[in-house]
Amino acid sequence: MEKLIINGGKPLNGDIEISGAKNAAVAILPAAIMASKGICVIDNIPQISDTECIERIIHSLGAKVKRDKNTVTIDSTTINNNDANTEDVRRMRASYYLIGALLGRFKKARVEMPGGCSIGVRPIDQHIKGFEALGAKVTIEHGAVVVEADELVGTNIYFDVVSVGATINVMLAAALAEGKTVLENAAKEPHVVDVANFLNTMGADIKGTGTDVIKINGVKELSGCNYSVIPDQIEAGTYMIAVAACGGKININNVIPKHLESITAKLVEMGVDISENGDSITVERTGEIRGVNVKTLPYPGFPTDLQQPMTTLLSIAKGRSIVNESIWESRYKHVDELKKMGANISVKNNLAIIEGVQNLSGARVRATDLRAGAAMVIAGLIANGVTEVTNIEHIDRGYPFIEKKFNALGANITREIDN
Ligand code: EPZ
Repeated sequence: MEKLIINGGKPLNGDIEISGAKNAAVAILPAAIMASKGICVIDNIPQISDTECIERIIHSLGAKVKRDKNTVTIDSTTINNNDANTEDVRRMRASYYLIGALLGRFKKARVEMPGGCSIGVRPIDQHIKGFEALGAKVTIEHGAVVVEADELVGTNIYFDVVSVGATINVMLAAALAEGKTVLENAAKEPHVVDVANFLNTMGADIKGTGTDVIKINGVKELSGCNYSVIPDQIEAGTYMIAVAACGGKININNVIPKHLESITAKLVEMGVDISENGDSITVERTGEIRGVNVKTLPYPGFPTDLQQPMTTLLSIAKGRSIVNESIWESRYKHVDELKKMGANISVKNNLAIIEGVQNLSGARVRATDLRAGAAMVIAGLIANGVTEVTNIEHIDRGYPFIEKKFNALGANITREIDN
C-alpha cells in the first residue's frame, strides 16, 4: 500500500492539463465491445486504475486490447465469452455496463455483482427495470446478474430516479434493439452525452441526450470507430477547488467550461475569480473566501462527486456553510478525517454543518473512497505541517498522476510505501 506525504501551506500557480473523463471512459470502454466488426481506437482515456481494470475485463472476454498512453485500441470481433466473472469485475462499479453492452450484442450476459466506492446503498433496480422492459429476463444467481432475451424490442421506459448508470446501461442495450426506445427522466450528465456520441460514431441512432428524454432507434450492428473522450469535469472541479483553498492562480486547460458552470458559480459566490478562455479557465483566489450552502443534484446541479473536496474548502471559509448531500446517503466519511485536522463539522443525516476555522493542521488521515481521497489531499495542501494520506489506491482509481499534477503547480507531495 502507498501513501502521499504532503507538506502543506503552499499556493498553487501555473498551468494544468485535464485528462479524459473517468465516468465517460468507464462506460465507453465496455460500449466498444458492442462492435461486431472493425476496431475502436479511443483517445483521451485517462491513465487510472479504473480504466486499466475495465481493459483487463474486456480482454478476459476475448477482445484484443492495446494501450498506448491515452489511446486504447479494442478489437472486439474476437469476443467469445459473455460471462464476466473475474475479481476485476467484482472490484468496480462500472462493470455493470457490461450487462447492457453484452445484452445488446449477444442478447445474453452473466456479470458478477459490481463493487465500487462505499458511499451508500447502490441499487441497480432501474437498470433491471429497463432491461426487462426491452424484453430481457433478469435473474440474480450466485451473486451474478444474469440477463437473457430472445430478442430486444424498443419501448418507452420512465426511470423512477435520475440515474447515470441506468440511463447509460439501458441506452447500450437499446442501441441494438428492434425499433424505437424512449428513455424518460434520463440523466443529463456530460458523460451520458459522450457515451451516446461514441455509440452514434459506431453507427447507432440516438438523439436527445443532454435532455431528460432520449430517443433511440435500434440498429442491426455497430462497427469500430475513432473517438476522443471528453475532459473530466470532476478532475477539473477538484483543481478549481484546490486553488480556491490554497490561494494562487492557475490556468486549467482542456476543459469544457459549460460543464463546470455549477462549480464556477459556487466558487464565484465564495469570492474566487474565474474567467473562461475557449477550452481553458483561469481560477484565482486573492482574498478571503466566504462560506456558502451547497446542495448536490443531478447535472446541471452541483455534482455529488465534488461534494467531498468542497467540504474541505468550506472548512476554512469564513462563517457557516451547510452542505446537503442529496444523491448518496453515506458520503461523509471524509468528515471524521477532516476533524482530525481541526475542521469543525457536524453531520446530521444528509446535512453537514460547517463552521469555518482559520486553518487545518497536518495529520495522518485515510482516503476512505475516491473523492474523499481528493478531499484529504486538498486538506493536506492547505494545512500547516505534514499530512499523510493513506489508502490512496482509492485516489489512483480516478485521478491520473495526482501528485505530479499538483507538484507542477508548486505543491510538495511525495508518494511512499505505507508500512
Ligand atoms: C455514477 O454512479 C458515477 N459513477 C458516480 O461517480 C456518481 O456519484 C453518480 O453517477 C452520480 O452522479 C460512475 O459513473 C461509474 P446513479 P451511478 O445511478 O451511475 C439511485 C465517482 O466518484 N439509484 O446516478 O452508480 C442511487 O442509489 C463515482 O466518480 C437507484 O435508486 O449513480 C443514487 O441515490 C462515485 N436505483 C442515485 O440513484 C438504480 O437502479 C444516483 O445514482 C440506480 C441508482
